[in-house]
Amino acid sequence: MKKQIEQLKRAKNAVILAHYYTPDDIQSIADYVGDSFYLAKIAKQSTADIIVFCGVSFMGESAKILNPDKKVLMPDLSADCPMAHMVKPGVIEQMRERYDDLAVVCYINSTAQLKCQSDVCVTSSNAVNIVKALPNNNIFFIPDRNLGSYVAKQVPDKNIILNDGCCPVHTEVSSEQVQLEMQQHPDALVISHPECEEEILALSDYIGSTAGMIDYAKTSKSSEFIVCTEEGVLFQMISDNPDKRFYFPNPHPCCQDMKRNTLERVLSVLQNENQIVEIDEDVCNKALIPLERMLELAK
Ligand code: 13P
Ligand code: SF4
Repeated sequence: MKKQIEQLKRAKNAVILAHYYTPDDIQSIADYVGDSFYLAKIAKQSTADIIVFCGVSFMGESAKILNPDKKVLMPDLSADCPMAHMVKPGVIEQMRERYDDLAVVCYINSTAQLKCQSDVCVTSSNAVNIVKALPNNNIFFIPDRNLGSYVAKQVPDKNIILNDGCCPVHTEVSSEQVQLEMQQHPDALVISHPECEEEILALSDYIGSTAGMIDYAKTSKSSEFIVCTEEGVLFQMISDNPDKRFYFPNPHPCCQDMKRNTLERVLSVLQNENQIVEIDEDVCNKALIPLERMLELAK
């Protein structure tokens, strides 16, 4: 299957992008593997005719919005991020009425519709710097309350209004389980994704995006880590650091939607050019504004 994928990719001038949470065999065949910010940048720069995006729908949608003329395929269009939908209808309008200078800051883990209503997008790797760079004092941070509250702590001079959305995978990480791992591995450093609950972040030595966590594990002098994020990051962590040890709190965090990306499905979409990401032109044009603003402000 890997050979067939390789041949079809060349024949059709296609490129495969994969998030660190996809299964190991997907990461091993991808041309680019990264966190959501890196993959959005790569999608924007791509000269391929076809982008096969192995991730969840907000990632494929962002690639399409940034490249409206390209064919963007996903191995399984039903792979979705539940958090991307967690903003109640009407709440953005209510906030805009309440505050004159409001900036709606939209985590990229959101639907294209929500992006249309937002001033700027962010990812977990640039949210703090982008919020700091905005001229607005009042910020409505959607959809993730945990990333929002992490940003609020780093930018205490701004009024950051939180929305009650969260990642069902990261919020399952329990502090008891992390503490248990800490007792069993007293020399290990705790590294966490900011989508985890506040009590997990309070136990952490490092907090950052998936790419940030992977870089930290690589450059740190420590040789043991308790990893509070989706277990797919282990593939890159082990390949970067074969002599280091990585422990996950039980049950290991696992995003079932990311695991819908399989080799069979990658091969099938390359053969059939189906599972096409399609977005209404007006939505595409509106959602492009906050995405491009993110790419600009993150420079
Ligand atoms: P990153 O921005 O770290 O890639 O995270 C995306 C995500 O979905 C985390 O759950
Ligand atoms: Fe969404 Fe959570 Fe899966 Fe990330 S890990 S894609 S935030 S459900």
